[in-house]
Amino acid sequence: MNERKRVLTGDRPTGKLHLGHYVGSLQNRVKLQDEYDCYFLIADLHMLTTRPTREDIEEMRDNIREMVLDYLAVGIDPNKSTIYLQSAVHAVYEMNLFFEMLVSLPRLLRLPSLKEMARAANIDEEAMPFGLIGYPVLQAADILMARAHLVPVGKDNEAHVEVTREIARRFNYLYGEVFPIPEVMLSDVPTLVGIDGKAKMSKSLGNAIFLSDDPKTVEKKVRSMYTDPKRIRADIPGTVEGNPVFIYHDIFNPNREEVEDLKERYRQGRVGDVEVKEKLARALNAFLDPIRERREQFAKERGLVEEIIYTGTLKVRAIAEETLEAVKQAMGLRGIWRSIERKARERMQELAKLQTL
Ligand code: TRP
Repeated sequence: MNERKRVLTGDRPTGKLHLGHYVGSLQNRVKLQDEYDCYFLIADLHMLTTRPTREDIEEMRDNIREMVLDYLAVGIDPNKSTIYLQSAVHAVYEMNLFFEMLVSLPRLLRLPSLKEMARAANIDEEAMPFGLIGYPVLQAADILMARAHLVPVGKDNEAHVEVTREIARRFNYLYGEVFPIPEVMLSDVPTLVGIDGKAKMSKSLGNAIFLSDDPKTVEKKVRSMYTDPKRIRADIPGTVEGNPVFIYHDIFNPNREEVEDLKERYRQGRVGDVEVKEKLARALNAFLDPIRERREQFAKERGLVEEIIYTGTLKVRAIAEETLEAVKQAMGLRGIWRSIERKARERMQELAKLQTL
């Protein structure tokens, strides 16, 4: 049973997930859970690196619930996979500190991702929080705590997994083989374009279709989608390649014949955007219907989401404690404490004996 390799990945709880998350990672996770022992973390501590206020934290409460509902709705199965809350696994904080000793500050400062995250959060370089610089180290603590073998992430996180690998190697070199060196697993699907034609679908850009959007909202968003700007009339030949409506058709419309027919007529200027979009909205809604339905079912069951996070977290706590123990043992810190304890106890017992004489 324990032969299975472990997969660990997760998300900062930013709220409802969208089609970009589905294509980029959720779909892959659903597949992985049959073959691997999977851990999906809700990275609320990482969220604090850019959003530490009370209001931010209060917002996370709802976001966590919405995100986990989306996990369940797309088919992440809590009977196969473990979903847990990062901040409730205390051993991770301790490992984070040990790992901070195993990576240099310039190494972290060179990562473009940190500056990007700061920029996205409107933090200027002078005000860069210490914790944000430590973001990849904390991520290493997540991954190594579970002694994960595989880490499926997007391109933006690839360098962080590289830092994890360096930390793991350095730890093993200094103290003995405790950690497997985790492999990054990049999704082979490039990022999904937004409905506005911008390179990436993202909640903050306001160009996302959410997994929980109702059918009317989906229709409205699809109607507003960016297409070929040359086509001001339906009889002007259009470009299919790189056109967001056709990228979505290719991914979400299982009716290949319909898609090929639309493409052909689009190229010839024999179809209006309205028809292409209506058919896309229909395909998207057919794709989303079962997801929405499952989501509603799960949302109705009081305490279910919480129970899933709770039991998952307790399980991960035990694993993390075990790893932390192995870490302290390997480092020799355990030995120091044990001998202090032993000698102190001996003395206390001797004194107690003297008193009763
Ligand atoms: N950094 C990830 C993100 O961009 C979240 C995350 C935190 C993570 N710890 C991780 C991903 C460990 C993979 C493995 O949201």
